[in-house]
Amino acid sequence: MNKKGLLSQKGLVVWLFGLSGSGKTTISSLLQEKLQEEGFFVMSLDGDVLRAGINSDLSFTEIDREENIRRAAEIAKIMLQNDIVTICSFITPLKKHRAQAANIIGECYLEVFVDCPISVCESRDVKGLYKKAQSRQITNFTGISSGFEAPVHPQLTIHTDIESPEESMEKVYRYIISFIKA
Ligand code: PPS
Ligand code: MG
Repeated sequence: MNKKGLLSQKGLVVWLFGLSGSGKTTISSLLQEKLQEEGFFVMSLDGDVLRAGINSDLSFTEIDREENIRRAAEIAKIMLQNDIVTICSFITPLKKHRAQAANIIGECYLEVFVDCPISVCESRDVKGLYKKAQSRQITNFTGISSGFEAPVHPQLTIHTDIESPEESMEKVYRYIISFIKA
């Protein structure tokens, strides 16, 4: 415990990536809640949230996604320098986007592939975006009209179509916890 009653911790960036509707935000929220209950100080950076504010000037073209990830990774890097655990949840569709985040952040970066078949994401369609993408009301939609490169050797994969959100979150928790205990 430090002076303020928070646990001592080492900074870490946990980068969740996967298709829209795969469960990134859900797993991020559950993980943040669990870590906060244990006394860790945890920040969340989420694609939808950043795109509603600091990244509201960016679209979903490849180049704008790259800029979106660059800014998110730079923010996460500053958090890291302040010993904060940051959970990032971005589609991060291409290998080069993941490599860019890893390069900016450096060694305290752990990647988690939130794997879910697109058919399941489409059937969930929580925000109605897949329907709009299918009818071409929105363009450049990941997995429909814009690419997603599945990782070949992911550091950790969670399967949100067959695991419960709690099971997936626990897998991520077990993977990261030894890195953040100071
Ligand atoms: S990226 O590719 O990493 O820059 O995307 P990200 O910043 O994570 O933003 C993903 C969220 O944006 C909404 N949305 C779209 N996603 C993908 N393609 C298109 N065209 C699109 N338009 C809007 C959507 O709510 C995504 O949130 P998630 O949580 O991934 O479903
Ligand atoms: Mg989300």
